[in-house]
Amino acid sequence: MHADNVVKVLFFGDLVGIPGRALMRSHLGALKAKYKADLIIVNGENAAKNGRGLTPRVAEQLYQDGVDCITTGNHVFQKKELFDFLSSSKNIVRPLNYPTGCPGTGCAFIPIPGLGKPLAVLNLQGRVFMRELLLCPFKTLETVLTFVSTKTNCIFVDFHAEASSEKVGLGLYFDGRVSCIAGTHTHIQTADNRILANGTAYITDAGMCGALNGMLGMKKEPILSMMLSQMPHKFVVEVEPPFCINGICVTIDSSSGQACSIERIHEVFDNVSFDERDFPE
Ligand SMILES: [Fe+2]
Ligand SMILES: [Fe+2]
Repeated sequence: MHADNVVKVLFFGDLVGIPGRALMRSHLGALKAKYKADLIIVNGENAAKNGRGLTPRVAEQLYQDGVDCITTGNHVFQKKELFDFLSSSKNIVRPLNYPTGCPGTGCAFIPIPGLGKPLAVLNLQGRVFMRELLLCPFKTLETVLTFVSTKTNCIFVDFHAEASSEKVGLGLYFDGRVSCIAGTHTHIQTADNRILANGTAYITDAGMCGALNGMLGMKKEPILSMMLSQMPHKFVVEVEPPFCINGICVTIDSSSGQACSIERIHEVFDNVSFDERDFPE
């Protein structure tokens, strides 16, 4: 916590497979120091070895490597072994707008070092070009904020959605009522990071962490074959270099809850050496 009451949060978009986690292990410490970050959040919905969902062992490893909170998305229920963990771990969230009774919660309160209030981390999933039957993300967030804002004014939202229209809409609708709305799911970083008129930091998509020359961090060949043939293909995580880390650094004035800045992070690495045996599936 800094003397000027400013909280710095690093957020990294979807970590894809072991390369995404290896990038965090090798570079998180330096990034945290470079940005003087207080808290680190990552989207872990693709962090499993095969790029689909994540497991308790993967989540625990991310915590050990310095991650304070994990957000997810449409792949959150891919691995059954995560269900109990979603309910028992206080540092992982799934989209709020799944029906009541789904494992886990959509809101986590992460202590901010040196400050008497937490950062609320919320996760929502879009409905446009995605699961249309989820609860309305706008109304869901509206309802939950009445509770969350009694606990803290430092509020971070990962809006996991496909359509930029839906993401921009949520940003503008909640401008001034949350500290930051960062999009995920497309794995493509957008260059529209800015502070909205009423003080909410916004970016349509933070991008992903993984192999740069694949598609979504997966090998391009099966995806291209699928596009050309319209036949189903198995997606495989790309493990060849180069790699990239995509995310944002957000500064929040903890007295007002408004954002002071939102900076994009896009770093490319020619190589990251890792042994797959050091990383759980
Ligand atoms: Fe993803
Ligand atoms: Fe996704």
